[in-house]
Amino acid sequence: MYLDKEEEKMLESENETISKAMELLVTLGKMFKAERLVRIKSAHISGISYDNIGDSGLEWIESLNARVSVPTTVNPAGMDLEKWKEMGIDERFYEKQVRILKALKNLGADLTLTCTPYYINKPSFGDHLAWAESSAVVYANSILGARTNREAGITSIAAAITGRTLYFGLHIKENRMPTVTVKAKGDLAAVGYIAGKELRGEIPYFIFEKKPSEWELKQLAASLAATGSVAMFHAEEITPEFRDFDVPKERVEVEGKLEKECNADLIAIGCPHASKEELEEILRLIGDEKIKRELWIFTSRRIAEGSRDLVRKLEKMGAKVYCDTCMVVSPAPDRFKCVMVNSGKALHYIPERRKCEVAFSDLKNCIRLAKTP
Ligand code: F3S
Repeated sequence: MYLDKEEEKMLESENETISKAMELLVTLGKMFKAERLVRIKSAHISGISYDNIGDSGLEWIESLNARVSVPTTVNPAGMDLEKWKEMGIDERFYEKQVRILKALKNLGADLTLTCTPYYINKPSFGDHLAWAESSAVVYANSILGARTNREAGITSIAAAITGRTLYFGLHIKENRMPTVTVKAKGDLAAVGYIAGKELRGEIPYFIFEKKPSEWELKQLAASLAATGSVAMFHAEEITPEFRDFDVPKERVEVEGKLEKECNADLIAIGCPHASKEELEEILRLIGDEKIKRELWIFTSRRIAEGSRDLVRKLEKMGAKVYCDTCMVVSPAPDRFKCVMVNSGKALHYIPERRKCEVAFSDLKNCIRLAKTP
């Protein structure tokens, strides 16, 4: 694999963190037959909840001795940094999580603690990135036209330090060609959940019945990534590269209909993290009826701080707005029997990661249930 002078220097660096980071990229580059590396505009690190990585992950991050060389954002942690007690997180977990965050800060990462880094620093069309949050990868490739493969937590850290990632896969235009046409109708979180299972690793070209909102596309991206390891899609008349390739001849139809019920004692919205527009929609759906069950809404701290009035109104109606974390990477939902979600990604991961049951419905029904005693 070709390395320029600067990259050679990093490989030979006396700083072990830098040389190991470059060594990892070179080893993977050989494995994936990448001809070279590519400079990236940003990195996004995932897998930083203490619940995911435990003591061995914490010690590894603490052992790193370098600084990131490009803007680097970070995925949600295992708790809200301010309301962790209210969430039911214990002191030990809190302390371990704080150590992980301190180590990431020492690396120079921006502790955004969100899976929607594109709401904070939106990549431009054609930017090369090294992002490790699968839902954000699909969003960046498909909706923004940026270029990133699905990085692992560890390779995103190597990329953040070196400022490079492997030039292969979705960094190369011809690999972004759609492979199957999908006529879709119904709830897009459900469409993504169902289509992902059928279309593992494909690049779907969607034709929708009606134009979806931005957050519906975000839901679609997250579901596809969760059940199908999909890293990109095109959507006719919507996504920036849909005209660049022929429409695939193979066609399938998917109806987004997916109702999974339980007597939910927790309703959790915000997977991926809610945008300001979603917070507004939730408040509109709540109307003037108070919330009667636990309703947790997850968003990033930056969005919450920029929407203080909205957050206050949601809390006044009985909802709880949590930042820095989510219903999948935090152990907080474990004390509930069943959690109702409107996200295909949460529906997929909660049974794997949490101790509670999971149910699914669209946002409207989730809020209706939250208002039911
Ligand atoms: Fe984000 Fe957690 Fe869902 S990290 S995409 S809210 S599983």
